Amino acid sequence: MAKVKTTFFCQNCGTQYAKWQGQCNACKEWNTIVEELVQKPEKSDWKTPTNTQKRVSKPLRINEIDSSKEARLDTLDAEFNRVLGGGIVPGSLTLLGGEPGIGKSTLLLQISLKLPYKTLYVSGEESQKQIKMRAERINPINDNCYILTETKTQNIFKQIEALEPDIVIIDSIQTLHSDYIESSSGSISQIKECTTELIKFAKETNTPVVLIGHITKDGNIAGPKILEHMVDTVLQFEGDRNHVFRILRAQKNRFGSTHELGIYEMQGSGLREVSNPSEILISKKDEELSGHAIAATLEGMRPLMIEVQALVSTAVYGTPQRSATGFNAKRLNMLLAVLEKRAGFRLGAKDVFLNITGGITVDDPAIDLAVVAAILSSNEDQAIPANFCFAAEVGLSGEIRPIQRVEQRILEAEKLGFSTIFVSKYNKISLKKTTINIRLISKIEDLVEFII
Ligand code: TYD
Ligand code: MG
Repeated sequence: MAKVKTTFFCQNCGTQYAKWQGQCNACKEWNTIVEELVQKPEKSDWKTPTNTQKRVSKPLRINEIDSSKEARLDTLDAEFNRVLGGGIVPGSLTLLGGEPGIGKSTLLLQISLKLPYKTLYVSGEESQKQIKMRAERINPINDNCYILTETKTQNIFKQIEALEPDIVIIDSIQTLHSDYIESSSGSISQIKECTTELIKFAKETNTPVVLIGHITKDGNIAGPKILEHMVDTVLQFEGDRNHVFRILRAQKNRFGSTHELGIYEMQGSGLREVSNPSEILISKKDEELSGHAIAATLEGMRPLMIEVQALVSTAVYGTPQRSATGFNAKRLNMLLAVLEKRAGFRLGAKDVFLNITGGITVDDPAIDLAVVAAILSSNEDQAIPANFCFAAEVGLSGEIRPIQRVEQRILEAEKLGFSTIFVSKYNKISLKKTTINIRLISKIEDLVEFII
């Protein structure tokens, strides 16, 4: 009987070992090394070698290389196109990661139903009937969309050969398994093998493939980091499951910028593209409330107005509480210390809660000024006029620091009907003829003076 060959893999980073050990030498994680069965692949071509054209690559002078723009496939979804950098590149592999239930399957099914190309949606998670039911909720059914429920890559390729789709969607990479590897689906060696086969298929036929990937509880895509290196684009679908908004961002993009952002709203009938996000992120209220301030931030290239809410109250217990949702808690502590020093804010006796509405997380430093304004406003119980907004970073000595692309933010604020924007005095602004009042401030005391 042939000897069964096994190898040990770290489930965290994918490093291979000949024998078991407690700690991975590469990533230093404990208890992540697991034994997996492997069998040397006899052939791992997605097609039988007879009908595969072998191409030999030759070196070319850089100015001889044809750089004419590769035609991208338009997905008819403006947000998805934007994040990808203008559409799906033929022959590319895209990985879409996200928490369970966030809407990955919904997003890709919805796009498949809209695509004007022959699309094959392969699902290893749901039955054809379940997918049909979901599709009926979303969109008018499209004639170009084919659904296949299969998990074995060899069978998938057989169907692909027969159908010749223009684009293939796999839901999800963790459910696939290849005959050439004996370990179970979702294991490191299976994920690696299936992805290699798909890459080969994509590059040889110039067909784009979109993969759905599960993420682990610490937010990484399950499987080896290698998976992220192998694919061309890694997209992350995120948002708070209890909120209706979903954000799509690129973590890696070989064909475009990683700064772009797509926003969707989860509705009963699928995901709606949100083309003017500022409107939904700012809560509508009839009366002015204290503790609210609007920040003009940038997400990627797109200006975004978000609402910061703060609640400052007298601490009931000895140690005051600090809590921030959607904002870095360390940065909040730093801003509170600046306020204590510069604005006489009695830090030791107050609880401070901070919340970015809409369930999104912001790491743009330009939001600092709005955070400070919201805290001051709540502390003094004095509302900030609803048509005021803020865009500046706050330094450790209370100075108001300039930020990047301030003009774009000012124009967005103006477009949305704000009357005044607070920015740093040190920002160079060459805008002419603005109807919005631009208030230049240089230190935190200027803001305190205004709010109190
Ligand atoms: P799903 O796409 O199955 O998530 P994932 O593939 O990332 O695990 O999304 C499931 C959630 O979306 C589920 O909780 C129900 C919700 N949903 C809607 O609110 N409206 C819809 O039209 C659809 C299809 C799903
Ligand atoms: Mg799913």
